Amino acid sequence: MRVLLTGAAGFIGSQVRRVLANAGHEVVAVDLMLAAAHGPAAPPPVGVERVDVRNPAALDDRLTGIDVVCHQAAVVGAGVSAQDAPAYASHNDLGTAVLLAAMSRAGCRRMVLASSMVVYGEGCYRAADSTSRVPAPRSRDELERGFFEHRDLHSGEPLGWAPVGEDTPVRPRSLYAASKVAQEHYAAAWATATDSAVTALRYHNVYGDDMPRDTPYSGVAALFRSALAAGVPPQVFEDGGQMRDFVHVRDVAAANLAAVERPLPGFVALNIASGQPISIGAVATLLAAAHLGPAPVITGKFRPGDVRHVVASPDRARELLDFTAAIGPEPGLTEFARAPLRAVGGAGAPTW
Ligand code: UD1
Repeated sequence: MRVLLTGAAGFIGSQVRRVLANAGHEVVAVDLMLAAAHGPAAPPPVGVERVDVRNPAALDDRLTGIDVVCHQAAVVGAGVSAQDAPAYASHNDLGTAVLLAAMSRAGCRRMVLASSMVVYGEGCYRAADSTSRVPAPRSRDELERGFFEHRDLHSGEPLGWAPVGEDTPVRPRSLYAASKVAQEHYAAAWATATDSAVTALRYHNVYGDDMPRDTPYSGVAALFRSALAAGVPPQVFEDGGQMRDFVHVRDVAAANLAAVERPLPGFVALNIASGQPISIGAVATLLAAAHLGPAPVITGKFRPGDVRHVVASPDRARELLDFTAAIGPEPGLTEFARAPLRAVGGAGAPTW
């Protein structure tokens, strides 16, 4: 197949490019080379063209004969301040809208969209009697008193987590999450209006080789790994019991290949996850041990916007894409503890 891959120079996009090419697909690889992700004035890698997905003419030139667009280009991270909102809206949402319009002009009717588990906001919770609960965000007062688990409104007992399925309502809590929800909504509406197909891959916590070093926009894996590289103990917030699903970047690339090769009708969202939940404390301990670095510190500090648990149900991706992650968190994080990181040259806030 002939595939237009956006964000082809990024942490995830470069792995997607490799697996698509290895599988025999013809890849038209583009990337804007945003300074926030690549450092100032970085040239694109060989075989990748510098293209802004918000530029309709540049897209028209590259969409001829394309069977499917694999759209990885995005400004990432949770957002540091309100000043980041225009960058998320511009690159992620306007970019996706311009791309979808260009695809229709070119007669291209399939997109694989990089989405994120952040669209869910909080994960799913269950009371002791197994009934589901949708807790309100934790209050600063509760967090300051060290009550990190959500509590049942009636009994006051801590709530347990439950796997998040794709039909869970979206509740974006950050600027980035809002932009990912909007991307999904534009893509879903486009699929309906033009009788086209979009597979949205909701990545859980991605890690692996060539992950960008820590910046104020980084997720926890990059922060822990960068701390260890600097000989500093990873700082674990809350009590370390927060549950997540860490999925290796090579599995994320494999999921993209599966989605490119297996058309699904209409708009379909799929969790892309390892299927083996792990606590943040266990991630820190594993990485520190494998790096032979200082043991993590459980700080009891907290970030008011953080969600307590988000654990994926990987069932739908297995059923519809035949995708099962090959790399569990233990071997994957052990490898990541020594893997190279990507220098981002003092990356600042994304510009728009
Ligand atoms: C993260 C990303 C999000 C991405 C998603 C899926 C950020 C800020 N968040 O969400 O954009 O879409 O994964 O890949 O990029 N923590 C520590 N110590 C630290 C930093 C964080 O213990 O130094 C804890 C946090 O309190 C939280 C957990 O680690 O409980 C995860 O944090 P983080 O990776 O930032 O956010 P996610 O909500 O998992």
